[in-house]
Amino acid sequence: MTAPVPGAASTRPHVVLGVGGGIAAYKACELLRLFTESRCEVTVIPTAAALQFVGEPTWAALSGRPVASEVWHDVHEVPHVRLGREADLVVVAPATADLMARAAQGRADDLLTSTLLTSRAPVLLAPAMHTEMWEHPATRENVATLRRHGYVVLDPAVGRLTGPDTGRGRLPDPEEIHATALDLHERRGGGSDVGRDLEGRRVVVSAGGTREPLDPVRFLGNRSSGLQGFALARTAALRGAEVTLVAANTDLPVPAGVEVREVETTEELQTQVVAASADADVVVMAAAPADFAPVSLAGAKIKKSSDGSTPSIELRETPDVLAGLVADRGDETSPVIVGFAAETGDANGSVIDHARAKLARKGCDLLVVNDVGGGAVFGRPDNSAVLLAVGASPYDVPQGSKSALAHVVWDRVVALLDPSRGAAAEPDAGGRHASESRDL
Ligand code: CTP
Repeated sequence: MTAPVPGAASTRPHVVLGVGGGIAAYKACELLRLFTESRCEVTVIPTAAALQFVGEPTWAALSGRPVASEVWHDVHEVPHVRLGREADLVVVAPATADLMARAAQGRADDLLTSTLLTSRAPVLLAPAMHTEMWEHPATRENVATLRRHGYVVLDPAVGRLTGPDTGRGRLPDPEEIHATALDLHERRGGGSDVGRDLEGRRVVVSAGGTREPLDPVRFLGNRSSGLQGFALARTAALRGAEVTLVAANTDLPVPAGVEVREVETTEELQTQVVAASADADVVVMAAAPADFAPVSLAGAKIKKSSDGSTPSIELRETPDVLAGLVADRGDETSPVIVGFAAETGDANGSVIDHARAKLARKGCDLLVVNDVGGGAVFGRPDNSAVLLAVGASPYDVPQGSKSALAHVVWDRVVALLDPSRGAAAEPDAGGRHASESRDL
């Protein structure tokens, strides 16, 4: 089930879905479905070329609303102004090279480009085209212009294109476009924008839970879904970073413009994270690596014994990837290293006591602390946390979407990368400084 738009309990946000004339127009049908399922009211504006790929009846049936395709229809309602003004969010998918060229020039030669000019809502463009078109200097300049104008332009995905060829140019996954669009709406609703303050930065994020094989069919693992790590990767890319996501056993769509390296075990995770971190500015260890692995891997499935005895499994400790990164960094201040702490309170101390000890033990710059008592966080779309840093008081991030928490983490990272921007990067998601002794 699709998560409802945050804050949309009473009002249904009005989304304009512009569809450009590319073969990926058929994927916009799925995107439209995701918006309507998350309680958005969607008006589809297909270009004339888009209607060559998917006809008006499809858009009308899926949106449950009339399709707006012509400046000359319902002229008395002045649609080229009204639709833009009424929109809470404008999403264009696929955004073709031609459409982006026209939008970058501020042209208003059809209903969609007119709407882009009249709307003051956040605009998200999801490009799709052949690699050569995406890489052409004209398109690069148009994308830069659109970003300067405040539009969020996703990087296309890498993969199979229209013909037998592959490369960068695929429409990002509709689920990812949808998640990014809701994120943008939520940010703007909270009075913040999505700036490109991580432009030029190389970021590595790990996500998911590693698995340590026991025999050909069994493994030791954990319940991490990878959702928080993927939200961190998505939001970092949105803020302009070049992102490598090391994903352990996740089944989530690839965030737009993010390079994913898939791993299974803690050792594989370590190899990929260390390799990707060589020239990184930031490493965020959001993954939940298995702390123990079986000493030996059985070559055949371990069978139940006929006498009812149960096998015992001897375990060894896996490497601590985070501590290794901190040790390798030595006295350098780069990369900025962020750890996560999944904690439960116990007789020996509160969640925050354990987290403080972990921050000291691991030596990272920032620790994002989740209270996982009762499995509170796993697999849910929302999260709350406390951010701990050496020499700073704990910072409470209230319950909200995992994207909202990710943005607060990036705000803090931006301040660590460039301390002169510390004040500007003060978290703005409604967080507050928590009392040191508070149990989470
Ligand atoms: N971590 C790591 N390598 C491991 C285990 C954990 O890099 N083998 C990282 C996690 O990605 C996270 C941080 O260390 O950023 C804390 O993970 P957590 O599971 O909370 O702590 P542990 O180090 O496993 O300590 P413990 O289970 O004893 O609390």
